[in-house]
Amino acid sequence: MTDSLNPETIVFFENRLMPLSEARVGILTHALNYGTGVFEGLRGYWNEEENQLLLMRPREHFLRWKQNCGILRIEVPWSAAELGDLTAGLVRRNGFRGDVYIKPLAYKSSQQIGIHMDGQNAFAIVAMPAPAYLDSSQGLHAGVTSWRRIEDNAIPGRGKICGSYVNGALASDEARRNGFDEAILLTEAGHVAEAASSNIFLVRHGKLITPPANENILEGITRDSVMELARKELRLEVIERPVDRTELYVCDEIFFTGTMVELAPVIRVDHRPVGSGQIGPVTAELRHLYTQAARGRLEAWRHWLMPVYEAVEELSSDRLR
Ligand SMILES: Cc1ncc(COP(=O)(O)O)c(C=O)c1O
Repeated sequence: MTDSLNPETIVFFENRLMPLSEARVGILTHALNYGTGVFEGLRGYWNEEENQLLLMRPREHFLRWKQNCGILRIEVPWSAAELGDLTAGLVRRNGFRGDVYIKPLAYKSSQQIGIHMDGQNAFAIVAMPAPAYLDSSQGLHAGVTSWRRIEDNAIPGRGKICGSYVNGALASDEARRNGFDEAILLTEAGHVAEAASSNIFLVRHGKLITPPANENILEGITRDSVMELARKELRLEVIERPVDRTELYVCDEIFFTGTMVELAPVIRVDHRPVGSGQIGPVTAELRHLYTQAARGRLEAWRHWLMPVYEAVEELSSDRLR
């Protein structure tokens, strides 16, 4: 995915700006060996008419990052607002004029043998041109995987903890090898949790249904945006409740949400058509609304967006050291 990333791209690493080619970690780094990092992923959308790049809900992403870091007892020494400004500065510094993807990472950085976590942490933020991802324009064929979603008391799925992504990687690898585009994971109790790296919604009897936060899901920011759009723009009833596997087979529409997939329609599940087997009307309308909101074309949702190319104060250099 980053094959074409320019090694001269300026990244934030070890509290300073440097070229990507110089941002390296040692082979014994705790996080590399034991998965003890916490990452985020957010997007910036290019708005052609305004010649402007708009970061999508940076405050929510950085707040989630800071809170999730707390699960591993990593304290992020910047506020969400400072991190937003730092990211905007990074994008400006690279001069990106197109959609971008931004990946903040905090991790246990000591080079040690042994699983005990000490207080040595490191931070990085990489901004890059948005990579191509799963093409969902014609609708996806998803399959329920034999792997179960990780439990909160094993590795908290809400935490965006690096090591926990082995769960989604195994699931999506199995799904792709079995001919599906993406995997849907069930909880140990057999309820639908989410897809390998996105949340899931069903449309049934005219209502939007999604598994609640306590079903081992990642509490997606796109999920939250779509629920708000559905309630306020479409006046739809949105219900957070446990979902059985076979509801996937009898519902009218299904879609995934996530920063990378955005809003991806699912038209087949386990070799069965979803509803009519075409992209449904609620999915199509919500996808359109989400795209319009993210690109800054809906005034009511402009508060989600942070413009990059305007006078935003650079984070002073002594705060970076
Ligand atoms: C496991 C998982 N679920 C759901 C999501 C969707 O979350 P968001 O909409 O905040 O990107 C992601 C992506 O971050 C994810 O990795």
